[in-house]
Amino acid sequence: TLVDRRLLCEAGDVAPGGMLKIQPEGLDPILVCNVDGKLYAVDDECTHAIASLSEGRLQGNIVFCPLHGGSFDVCSGKAKSLPCKQALRTWPIEVADGKVYLLLK
Ligand code: FES
Repeated sequence: TLVDRRLLCEAGDVAPGGMLKIQPEGLDPILVCNVDGKLYAVDDECTHAIASLSEGRLQGNIVFCPLHGGSFDVCSGKAKSLPCKQALRTWPIEVADGKVYLLLK
C-alpha cells in the first residue's frame, strides 16, 4: 500500500509540553502534542462535545478539555477522565528532516 505523507508542521513549531492545532485540507483538525520531546497527533475535537482541545491544557501526556475538564492520553488516545469516555482518534506521524508528516493510507 502506498502511504501518502502530508506535511503538518515543522517539528520546532511544537515545543516540549506544547501543542499545536493544524487544519489539513479535507480532514478534521489535528492536534500535535510534544510529550517530553516526542510528538503525537490526535484529533483536536473532544469526543464529549464540540470543543478544541488545543484550547485546553497539556500536562505530561494528558490533555485536559477546556469545556468540561475531561481528559485524554494523547499517546494512546484513551479517555482518562469523565465526562470523556470515547477515545480520541490517534494519527500516525513521521518526523523527517525537521518536518512533521501525517501518514495517510
Ligand atoms: Fe470536552 Fe465536554 S467537550 S469534556
